[in-house]
Amino acid sequence: MAISWHTDVNTRSQRDCFVTVFLAMTTLGFTGSYAHADMIDTRGMAPHEQCAYCHGLDGNSAMPRFPRLAGQSASYLRKQLADFKQGRRTNDEGAMSGIAESLSEADVESIVRHYAGQALRARASDIEGDAAAGRRLYFNGRRAIAACATCHGTVAPVLEGAPRLLGQHGAYLAKQLQDFRRGARRNDADGVMHRIAQALAESEIRALAAFLSAQPVMTGANR
Ligand code: HEC
Ligand code: HEC
Repeated sequence: MAISWHTDVNTRSQRDCFVTVFLAMTTLGFTGSYAHADMIDTRGMAPHEQCAYCHGLDGNSAMPRFPRLAGQSASYLRKQLADFKQGRRTNDEGAMSGIAESLSEADVESIVRHYAGQALRARASDIEGDAAAGRRLYFNGRRAIAACATCHGTVAPVLEGAPRLLGQHGAYLAKQLQDFRRGARRNDADGVMHRIAQALAESEIRALAAFLSAQPVMTGANR
């Protein structure tokens, strides 16, 4: 079942068609649990369009298990794609490795530029938790835990390679912290996130996720 477009997929009806075909493939059981990018003929498509089914054309994914890529730091996106490709990040149940392997260096650069340049849209939080406690932890830390903002920043990440967490889906953030804590995700240099996540209680993970997922953009007003 090959689909090919030789023009840019940039009108709403074409976009809807793209999504519908993917959904149909999933329903018909062509894809196992995930659709694979190599099942469609991608000639004529911009490289990021094969990511759209899960992450959204503009990186504002709808489903909490697919991270939002809009406005994410370019150096972070580049590193994750390399880590998926080389098997250093494996906590995604194989969703990303085949896709990352199929990307050329030029595709990666085009995709990273596209998503890093998109605006993150405001969205209500998708997770229950004590957002006020999460806010305190994010900005002030506590004994044995450095403030997250030291590296993840108040407006944009301040440490090269650290992702923006503000406005990310809460369920996705909580899963990453749990994965770092139990060692299922281990692509963080020097185990920096593993150590931090091990010190976090489950209620603190939920508090952080509730706070962060409700913050599309950090401005003076919500600091
Ligand atoms: C079939 C669904 C699917 C498609 C298509 C897909 N992804 Fe993903 N992607 C995922 C899932 C699921 C995760 C997160 C897994 C986890 O860690 O829980 C993910 C994670 C990522 C991450 C890590 C984000 C972060 O904050 O750490 C990046 C970067 C990414 N994908 C880029 C891409 C790019 C680029 C494409 C297209 C070339 C793409 N993805 C296509 C499902 C998909
Ligand atoms: C010393 C710097 C530092 C501190 C402090 C820090 N982080 Fe991180 N964090 C990182 C780096 C670097 C990464 C990227 C790891 C990688 O390469 O995949 C990361 C990744 C993450 C991710 C994965 C995000 C994604 O999109 O997949 C989450 C979630 C996270 N950190 C949460 C936190 C929270 C919550 C705190 C505070 C309790 C915190 N971090 C404190 C450096 C830091």
